[in-house]
Amino acid sequence: MYEDLDEAVGPCWRDLADVMAAGISRVLLYGPSGTGKTFAALHYGVMASQAERLVCTEDLTSGEITGTWMPVGENRWEWREGPAIRAWRGTGGLGGRLVVDEVDRASGDALSTLLAMTDSPESARWRNPETSEWVRPGPQFSVVMTSNIEDLDDIPASLRDRFPVSIRVDRPHPAAVASLSVDLRAPAISGSLSPASRRVSLRSFYAFDELRRHCGAVRAAHLVFGVEDGNSVLDAFAIGAL
Ligand SMILES: Nc1ncnc2c1ncn2[C@@H]1O[C@H](COP(=O)(O)OP(=O)(O)OP(=O)(O)O)[C@@H](O)[C@H]1O
Ligand SMILES: [Mg+2]
Repeated sequence: MYEDLDEAVGPCWRDLADVMAAGISRVLLYGPSGTGKTFAALHYGVMASQAERLVCTEDLTSGEITGTWMPVGENRWEWREGPAIRAWRGTGGLGGRLVVDEVDRASGDALSTLLAMTDSPESARWRNPETSEWVRPGPQFSVVMTSNIEDLDDIPASLRDRFPVSIRVDRPHPAAVASLSVDLRAPAISGSLSPASRRVSLRSFYAFDELRRHCGAVRAAHLVFGVEDGNSVLDAFAIGAL
C-alpha cells in the first residue's frame, strides 16, 4: 500500500521542488489546511535558520513587517528591524527566506508594506529610519506565501502579480505522511472521512496516531475527529483498532 509515497502524493510537491530548483524566488502555496505548506515554506530550498515567518491577520501592522522603535533605556529608542528586512538581509547580506502565512488576510497598511517588501529585486529598497541606511534584498532572498483560499482571485491582484508561480497543494507532503504509522498513511493521503467531508488535516492524523496509543483507537477517533461513534472513522479508514 503506497510503497512509493512520492508517487502517491500527486504532482504538487514535485512542482514545488522543480520551481525551487529553477531558482524561482516568489511562490504562492494555497489550498486546504494541514498539508504542509508552511513547513515546506520554512524548510525547502533554504536553511531553516534563515527563514523568517510572518502570519497575516486583519490587525497586522506595517511595523510588524519592517520593524519598530523599541525603548532601550531612559529616553533612548532603538529601531528593531522586522522579519521582512531580516529576510532581505539573510546571513551576510545574501538574503534569506520570508514566509508570509495566511496572506489573504493582509489589508491596508500591512498589504502596502508587503507589496513593497515583495517587489522585484530591481525596485525594492527600504531606508532604516535610525541609520538612514538604504537596504535592498540580498541576491538569494526568496518569498513563499501560503493561504487556505481556494480561489486565487481572493488574493489582491497587485500582490499576486508579484508571484508568478502559484501551486495548489492538495495532498500532504510525502515526508509528513512517512512520519505517520504505516496504517495511517493511506488515509492521510486520501484525507477524507467520507466522500462529502473536507480534507482532514495532517495535524489530526498526528494527534490520532499519538492519542490511540494512550486511550485506544475508538476513543481517539471520537476525540480527534469529533464523531459520536469512533468506530465509524475506523471503518472509513479501514484500519481497525490497534
Ligand atoms: N515535510 C514534513 N515533514 C514532517 N512534518 C511535516 C512536514 N510537512 C508538514 N509537517 C507537519 O504537518 C503539520 C501541518 O503542516 P503545516 O503547518 O505546514 O500545514 P499547512 O498546510 O501550512 O496548514 P495551514 O493551511 O492550516 O496553515 C505540522 O505539524 C507540520 O510540522
Ligand atoms: Mg500554514
